[in-house]
Amino acid sequence: MRIGVLTSGGDAPGMNATIRAIVRTGIASGDQVFGISDGYRGLVEGKIVEFTRKDVSEILSRGGTILGTARLPEFKYEQVRALACKQLEKYDIDSLIVIGGDGTYTGALRLHEMGIKTIGIPGTIDNDIASTDYTIGFSTALNTACEAIDKLRDTSSSHQRCSIIEVMGRHCGDLALYSGLCCGAEYIITNETGLDKEKLLKDLKSNRLAGRRHAIVVISENITDVHQLAKDVEAYSGYECRATVLGYVQRGGAPTPEDRLLAARLGKYAVDLLHEGVTGVAVGIRQNELRYTPIEEALIMQNETSVELANLVKKIS
Ligand code: F6P
Repeated sequence: MRIGVLTSGGDAPGMNATIRAIVRTGIASGDQVFGISDGYRGLVEGKIVEFTRKDVSEILSRGGTILGTARLPEFKYEQVRALACKQLEKYDIDSLIVIGGDGTYTGALRLHEMGIKTIGIPGTIDNDIASTDYTIGFSTALNTACEAIDKLRDTSSSHQRCSIIEVMGRHCGDLALYSGLCCGAEYIITNETGLDKEKLLKDLKSNRLAGRRHAIVVISENITDVHQLAKDVEAYSGYECRATVLGYVQRGGAPTPEDRLLAARLGKYAVDLLHEGVTGVAVGIRQNELRYTPIEEALIMQNETSVELANLVKKIS
């Protein structure tokens, strides 16, 4: 086979480890593997080169993606996707593996509908693909967020402050839920747990009156303006309050062993499935087993663990 591979959407630690696994499994299986730069944009523009084993040496532990990534909203137009198909034809590439999140999967689904043999691998820090227990990059981002929250707790406690920490996730609360639980945050606010501002302010005021030295609030992005929330907390609760937006630091860094292992397993699995003639699917890991799901299903599935964790937060935070 002649397999193309691209990374798309926000970069995630472990994308390089995934590319390495695909290239090496492909070559070991007698395939030729082509790296496509800068996501779907590079595919449309024909930024395609064949990879050797050596091209993917020494990238296993590196964050980011050696292929580069991009977001291409225009990929929703059929005429733009037709240009992508033409490039694949030009290079005689018969199968495509895409690594990314839900936007990447939507592009993959459209290509599959146009007759391209496509497989999706979940690579995003957001953990917002429910057809897998974990996406590649989530473990590393979670570690980064936990390290930051632990540090913010130290300074908050010393100064008797409330600290509001905004983590990424786009519209998925997993990074907030997991990091908040792991760091014992007093409040975790996500789309699943909801923001009841009045209650939050009242609770923080009683905490302060009860003499608690600090309060940690972990909140998902895209819920509210955290700087305004910090002002409101300070005005009402008696705590000095600071907001910290962790931002893009969560997307960088060397992948954790968990992400490297997941990358290796899913990269190989995707190539194996192509050999078996399975396409139009998203690969993932569920209860530690390799699984595949039709991409259209993967895009609408609900993550049961997120619901369970949101309920847990309501009980123990
Ligand atoms: O999807 C990964 C992610 O980091 C989200 O958590 C975040 O909302 C988004 O990408 C930011 O995207 P951009 O890099 O385009 O600003």
